[in-house]
Amino acid sequence: MSESLSGLRRSMMCGEVGLAQVGTEVVLMGWVQRRRDHGGLIFIDLRDRTGLVQIVFDPESGADAFSKAERVRNEYVLAAVGKVRPRPEGTVNPNLPTGEVEVYISELRVLAASKTPPFAIEDGVDVDELVRLKYRYLDLRRPEMQANLQLRHKVAFAMRDYLNRNGFLELETPVLGKSTPEGARDYLVPSRVHPGSFYALPQSPQLYKQLLMVSGFDKYFQIARCFRDEDLRADRQPEFTQLDLEMSFIDEEQIQTLMEGLVAEVFDRTLGVKLQMPFRRLTWHEAMETYGSDKPDLRFDLPLIDVADLVIDSNFKVFANVAKGGGRVKGINAKGCAKYSRREIDALTAYVAIYGAKGLAWLKVTENGLESSISKFFTEEQLVALCERMDAKPGDLLLFVADKPLIVADALGHLRCEIAKRENLIDEKEFNFCWVIEFPLLEWSEEENRFMAMHHPFTCPMLEDVAYLDSDPGRVRARAYDMVLNGIELGGGSIRIHSMELQEKMLECLGFTKERAHENFGFLLDAFEFGVPPHGGMAFGLDRMIMLMTGAESIRDVIAFPKTQSASCMMTQAPGEVTDKQLKELAIRVSMQAKADKQNK
Ligand code: AMO
Ligand code: AMP
Repeated sequence: MSESLSGLRRSMMCGEVGLAQVGTEVVLMGWVQRRRDHGGLIFIDLRDRTGLVQIVFDPESGADAFSKAERVRNEYVLAAVGKVRPRPEGTVNPNLPTGEVEVYISELRVLAASKTPPFAIEDGVDVDELVRLKYRYLDLRRPEMQANLQLRHKVAFAMRDYLNRNGFLELETPVLGKSTPEGARDYLVPSRVHPGSFYALPQSPQLYKQLLMVSGFDKYFQIARCFRDEDLRADRQPEFTQLDLEMSFIDEEQIQTLMEGLVAEVFDRTLGVKLQMPFRRLTWHEAMETYGSDKPDLRFDLPLIDVADLVIDSNFKVFANVAKGGGRVKGINAKGCAKYSRREIDALTAYVAIYGAKGLAWLKVTENGLESSISKFFTEEQLVALCERMDAKPGDLLLFVADKPLIVADALGHLRCEIAKRENLIDEKEFNFCWVIEFPLLEWSEEENRFMAMHHPFTCPMLEDVAYLDSDPGRVRARAYDMVLNGIELGGGSIRIHSMELQEKMLECLGFTKERAHENFGFLLDAFEFGVPPHGGMAFGLDRMIMLMTGAESIRDVIAFPKTQSASCMMTQAPGEVTDKQLKELAIRVSMQAKADKQNK
């Protein structure tokens, strides 16, 4: 059934045929997008990764080709030889880049047949994502997916070029490494040679790249695959790709400037978008207080406004008590939203409850005065002062939450994004970058009942805060920075600790005894005794960057073969069971419980 390619060479790509080729013979290869039989004439749209071109068959130009074309179906793979000619008047297709021409075919070979695909190979089809993932090789034929992966290639290429020009070396680091505590859960790989011992897949090349600095490589980068066994979301995958970098003898300002240059060049070269530099810099404190998030979406304003001082003496006990107890009472002014019904406000109240808010007090400013869930608790003067602070005008809806600082930030931080979405305040074409700097070094974990590193244990504290490491660890700021794009963390990094004493001290703050610190991170601490240059770096989420550049809804749409929300592959059925022989070699026994759990799923 399949014919051979022998003797035929492709002369050009389908999407590149144009008026310049009129009168010449071309050899095209590709898939059948669509076939139309007009009695005496057959038209086929032939597709490859550059696009579509119309090829035409009639019995006069080649009887053999015509009869084969009669039997061709969608997604058959063809080689077609023919002459390019202008389309007859009235049949030009202005929506198709090749729409001014067609190819009049004299020879056709059917290289492969195809079953009818489970969904149409075109954009905008309504197909369940699990079906798309099962037949990913077909899903990837769709123009949108082809464009996403082509952009991904261009971005990676532009990154390499920029970094190479700036003196960086691309170096690889191991995938089979050692499991270290801190960070997310590791993926483990059992060792056959050392039964009972495990490698861990890297969550990032963090320690290796720092050791490369100790080795004098000075400027390193890698497009690295990272593995984290964590709960998945739309912007998270269990294996993902980072552009990972590290440099010696630099400070945060130098790194940030170089990274802005990188992102600007990538956006310009691949999307033709010119970015405004320098990016805005917000301290973590400022970001949390004003936007309720450490990755604020700055495409719209809607700031959180502190009103604690105005309500501390009011009769509304909820607000007054929170204000007195060191919590936050803050509001946002949803401009023009006084039109919201009670039902809509109830929906917003339920929305902030997801983030822990116990209520959502509201105040509508109308031409006829104020309408509110809380006005009865306030004096006229207090209400006027609230409206003034919130810059309220007739038509506005003021929304308040009182609670612990992190709950207020989280609830109102999400609410401002929700209001912006509802009110269409977001320009979907905009790329709004900022840096968030001066993160806290440590955060308290209720679960672990100890401080955890907010970034990772190798991040350097700000010099002026080192003194608080013992007395008030929560107050110590880190020399860490995140690059944020449209409310998503695109990348993060830090200046690292490069003294052994400080690294040991940091590990002590995280609850490691000296012995355990050396057990887990001995190789790093040892290296710190042999001349460590001051260094720092960062890593970008490449998948996230492409997701934002393409406007894709999910990171899965920019990864060729992604995992589902439950970390499985619909196409290969990974993870899968292995044979008893394999398990025996690894000295592993699967518990009856695990087998039963699997069967019950
Ligand atoms: P961090 O853990 O912040 O830093 O990761 C850097 C960037 O990687 C992306 N990212 C992810 N993308 C997809 N799926 C995931 N599960 C996922 N997790 C993270 C994010 C994030 O900003 N070694 C440090 C960097 C450094 O300090 O140099 C690190 O890995 O875009
Ligand atoms: P109540 O007197 O409990 O009916 O509350 C009056 C209004 O205050 C309602 O709109 C509640 O949603 C709101 N409210 C209650 N607790 C809080 C809180 N912690 N923060 C913000 N608003 C609240």
